[in-house]
Amino acid sequence: MTGSSSYEDLVKAILECRKCPLYKFRNKPVPGEGPLDSKIMIIGEAPGRYEDISGRPFVGPAGKLLDHLLNLAGLERKEVYITNVVKCRPPKNRDPRPEEIEKCLSYLLRQIKIIKPKMIIALGRISANTLYDLVGRRWRGMKIEHGVSTEGKIEELNIVLIPTYHPAAALYRPEVKKILEEDFRTVIKDYARKVKSDTVSKKKSLLDFFS
Ligand code: URA
Repeated sequence: MTGSSSYEDLVKAILECRKCPLYKFRNKPVPGEGPLDSKIMIIGEAPGRYEDISGRPFVGPAGKLLDHLLNLAGLERKEVYITNVVKCRPPKNRDPRPEEIEKCLSYLLRQIKIIKPKMIIALGRISANTLYDLVGRRWRGMKIEHGVSTEGKIEELNIVLIPTYHPAAALYRPEVKKILEEDFRTVIKDYARKVKSDTVSKKKSLLDFFS
């Protein structure tokens, strides 16, 4: 099966999912979007109001801030794959429950397996905690862990994981926005550049080979 046909199957499964009660409240599930060969994956918590209406991740005010943060890291939205730990909006934007995260986790793992990112940016406590679990590392809280890179394996892939605050938390808290901007401007930018130049040099050496 090719990557894109297994991806289509995955999206279909998410759109039809009734594994947890969140399907009763949702307007549209939000599978995620971006290039399937992206080296960088951004993982948020769960869709909010605007995402539930449109079926697309990070399109509301937090998404606008995410675009700005990506720019600080020298990135554009169109070159990263964006998704969430939970694919349906929890009522009134409450935190997703552990059993909802658990039921949805197989979709995230399938996305990681298909996209094979080199780097994952986990936005917010829920996403960071879930990904720390996957790499077998103990979560000690955002104050300590934000902007710290961790190397680990998920689905047999070597991945650099960088947690930071959720953009929604920065919308009304200038001190959080400052930290987020600093994380994107420094550590995330450095790793993104490395990951992208690895890809470019691999493509270049293949081209050299064929020229
Ligand atoms: N918050 C998230 O965690 N994800 C979205 O897609 C939007 C807001």
